[in-house]
Amino acid sequence: MCGIMGYVGARDITKVILDGLAKHEYRGYDSAGIAVVKDREIHELRTTGRVSQLAKKVAEEHFTGEFGIGHTRWATHGGVSEMNAHPHVSSDNRVVLVHNGIIENAREIRADLEAHGIKFHSETDTESAVQYLGYVYEGDPKAAIVKLTKRVRGAFALVIMFYDRPNEIWVARKGSPLVVGRADGEGFCASDPTALLEYTRDVWFMDDDEMAKITKEGCIFYDFHGDAHEKKSMHLDWDAAMATRGSYPHFMLKEIHEQPDVVAHTLLGRVADGAVDLSKELDWSEAKIKGWKKIHFVACGTSHYATVTAARIMETLGDFEIRTEVASEYRYRNIPIDKDTLAIFVSQSGETADTLHAARLAKSRGAECLVITNVRGSTIHREVGNAIITPAGPEVGVAATKTFTAQITALVLLGLYLAKMRGELDKDTEHRLVTALMDIPGKLASVLDKEKDIEMLARDFADARGFFFIGRGLAYPPALEGALKLKEISYLHAEAYPAGEMKHGPIALLDKELPVVALVPKNGLWEKTVSNIEESMARKSPIIAVATEGDDEIANYTDHIIFTPETEPELFPFIGVVPLQLFAYYIARQRGCDIDMPRNLAKSVTVE
Ligand code: M6R
Repeated sequence: MCGIMGYVGARDITKVILDGLAKHEYRGYDSAGIAVVKDREIHELRTTGRVSQLAKKVAEEHFTGEFGIGHTRWATHGGVSEMNAHPHVSSDNRVVLVHNGIIENAREIRADLEAHGIKFHSETDTESAVQYLGYVYEGDPKAAIVKLTKRVRGAFALVIMFYDRPNEIWVARKGSPLVVGRADGEGFCASDPTALLEYTRDVWFMDDDEMAKITKEGCIFYDFHGDAHEKKSMHLDWDAAMATRGSYPHFMLKEIHEQPDVVAHTLLGRVADGAVDLSKELDWSEAKIKGWKKIHFVACGTSHYATVTAARIMETLGDFEIRTEVASEYRYRNIPIDKDTLAIFVSQSGETADTLHAARLAKSRGAECLVITNVRGSTIHREVGNAIITPAGPEVGVAATKTFTAQITALVLLGLYLAKMRGELDKDTEHRLVTALMDIPGKLASVLDKEKDIEMLARDFADARGFFFIGRGLAYPPALEGALKLKEISYLHAEAYPAGEMKHGPIALLDKELPVVALVPKNGLWEKTVSNIEESMARKSPIIAVATEGDDEIANYTDHIIFTPETEPELFPFIGVVPLQLFAYYIARQRGCDIDMPRNLAKSVTVE
C-alpha cells in the first residue's frame, strides 16, 4: 500500500511527480507529500487528504526543485496527519525518503537513535529509516543504504535523496513493489508501472534485496552488499490510454464495460476449433500433470472468489482433489503441501504480500507452482515462474471487476486443459464449453445493456440496511463476489450464503429492511433456490432476483428481476457477476461514495 514516485530529468519535476502520484492514489489516499532538492537543500511539502490538495499547495507555494520524490499514503503506523505524511527528512536535513512497507523494528531503532540525541518528528515507522540514514551518512549513499538494509527488519520500498548528491535518486527494495524506468536523459521510479507509461515502457522491476542509483544517464543496480550487477529491462505491453478513465465517470464503470473484450482477449490464442491448448504457456508433460494428486488454489479477496468459482467448475470436469484457501490462512495452517501438489496462486497485482508468502511456502515444500496474474513481471510472476497472464490491462478502480472475469476465464481454460491432459475430459464437453466460452463476450455485452434497469433498481434499494446474496452451486461464487463489491464501495453490510444454508442461522436476521439478492439461474437447482426465496419472503425480505431470460415463473416471487442470457450451467458465474458489479456500483453512486477509492482500502495490499 502507499504509492511512490521519483523523477530525475529535464521535465517539470513537480508535474511529473504529482501526475505519477495521482496514478498511485488507489494505493493509498489519506495524505500525500513531495520533496525536492534545490541548491543542495532538501525541501518538502506535505498535506493530509488527496494528491489534488497537495497539487494545490505546490501551486500556491511555487514549489519546485531540481529532482524529486513523492508519496501517497495508506496509514499503518501513526494516524493520518501532516506530521506522519511522507516524505520524511532526517533531523540534520541531509537525507529525505519515502517508504512503502513496514519497518518492524522501528521502535528499537528509534530508541537507539534518541539515546544519541536524535529528535524524531512523527509517529511513523518510516522515520526510523531516514534518521538512521542521516546518522550513518558520510557522503557515500551506497554505503549508508547498505548499513540501513542490515539494520532494518520488515518490508520496504524506499526512495531516497541526499542533499549533496545532485540528480541522484537511490532506491532499495525488500518485500514491497518498486519499478524503475529510463528514457533519454531521465530516470523514474514508481510503485506501479502504469505511472511510467506516459514516459517510458522500458522498465526494471526491482527484486528483493536489491538497490539502485537512478540518474539522468542511467541506472546502476546493486545487491545489499553494495556489489553492482547487470539487470535486464522489460518492455511493457500496456499503453498510457489504458490507464485513463476516458468518458466514464469512474474507472470502475469503465472496467465493468471492458469485460466483453477482456474475456475475448483472454481466450485469444488459447482456444481454437472447440479445443483448449495452453501448451505454449505451460511446459508440462502429460505424465507430470497426471502426477499431481492435489490442487491448491491460493489467493485473497476477489481473486480468492475467482478460485472458488474455478474449483466448482473444475469439479464438473475431472477427478480433482481441490482446496481453495485464503492466502493469509494457508501459511499458518498445517496443510500438507508436497511434490504431489500443484499450487495455483491468483493475484491481479502479483504483489499481494499474503499470496506471495504463501507461494514461497509452497515452493519451499516442493509443490509445483503456477500464478495467474494481470501484471507481467510482478513479484509473484518473477518468483513463481510458471504463469498465465491475464490480458485485462491496468485495473485502476480499487474494486476488482474486469480482472475477476479475466481470472475466471483463465481458470476455466486451465481446468479444461488439466482435465484433458489427464485424460478425464471428453471431447464433447470440451467442445461444448469452449464454444460457450467464446459466446460469453456477446452475452456479457447484453447484460451490460441492462445497465439502466439495474441503475433504477439500485435507486430503489440504496437506503437498505444491508443485503444478503444467495445462490446454490455455481450461483454461489458470484454471490460472494457481489456481496464483496457492495461492501467495498457502498459500505453497506452484505453477506453471501449458499441459499440452502440461510435456514441454519442467518435467516434470523431477515426482515423488510434487509433485501435478499437471489441468483436463480434456470438449472437443476432452480426449484430449491426458489424455495429459499419463499423462505425469505415469508420473513418479509424484499427479493431481487438474477434470473434467466425466458423464466416467466420468477415473476411470481418478485417484481425486481434482472434477466440474464442463458449459458452453459458451468459458465453461469460469468453472467451472474456482472449485474451484481453494476448493482454495487449504482448503489454506491446513489449513496455518494467514493467509488474508485473506497475508504480504508488499497488496491494492492503489500503488507501482511
Ligand atoms: O492483487 P490481488 O488480486 O492479489 O488482490 C487481492 C485482493 O486484495 C483484492 O482482490 C481485493 O479484495 C479487491 N479490493 C477486491 O475488489
